[in-house]
Amino acid sequence: MTTKPTVLKELPADLKRDRLPRHVAVIMDGNGRWAKRRGLPRIMGHPRGVDSLREAVRCCDDWGIQALTVYAFSTENWNRPQQEVMLIMTLIEQFLRRELPEMMERDIRLKLMGNLSALPASLQAAMEQSMNATSNNRGMQFTVATNYGGRQEILQACRTIAHQVQQGALSPDEIDESVFERHLYTASICDPDLLIRTSGEMRISNFLLWQVAYSEIYITETLWPDFNRDELRRALLAYQQRERRFGKV
Ligand code: IPE
Ligand code: IPE
Ligand code: MG
Repeated sequence: MTTKPTVLKELPADLKRDRLPRHVAVIMDGNGRWAKRRGLPRIMGHPRGVDSLREAVRCCDDWGIQALTVYAFSTENWNRPQQEVMLIMTLIEQFLRRELPEMMERDIRLKLMGNLSALPASLQAAMEQSMNATSNNRGMQFTVATNYGGRQEILQACRTIAHQVQQGALSPDEIDESVFERHLYTASICDPDLLIRTSGEMRISNFLLWQVAYSEIYITETLWPDFNRDELRRALLAYQQRERRFGKV
């Protein structure tokens, strides 16, 4: 008798399909520490972080998660050494170009969010190209936050709304949560049900400030380059054991 091959695409047996988060957001943290612990320069952790990202995308898609949003570069990350910033930009560009064929195959719709106009021209071109190519795909919505800051996102929404009021297209009393949300980068996706942060830090670091109002937060000590299929399974399992209340009893 031959042993049955492990089908990685299948949802792990201990997870319930009907209780999966629709939207998972991830603060991919700990690349620098991963490298330092191996006696390597901290920037050596970023290429390994890309491998974890590729795996996370495949997993979420295989398991039927509808939306995945990852934090790749914050508005504050410009304060890192220039060499590190440039490496991260290069890695994001390579990732977009290399993964495009597989994203097409998987029917994944890619979106980049953040202040993209401040990014290097070749990265912007790769972003445009992959967003255009995947725009009619109907599978998982995969969003990469690059030069993203939650405060910056809220401010740009306020500015746009203020212009509309100034032009008489909107009255101040009409500004409610749904009007406001339409001006956030995440307008077309539901709020994250689950927010994962790796490397043990207990903070939000300016990620999706508005959208995480009622997200379940899962923090693991695991550093991002070590985050794999089994780590994701554990995060989803923890999520399925939570009781979400939304302020009710
Ligand atoms: C996350 O890893 C990657 C980015 C923020 C771009 P870090 O580079 O922040 O790794 P640590 O937190 O220094 O270990
Ligand atoms: C958050 O990680 C940003 C990203 C993962 C892109 P940081 O490493 O920049 O966050 P802090 O500085 O520890 O808060
Ligand atoms: Mg960090």
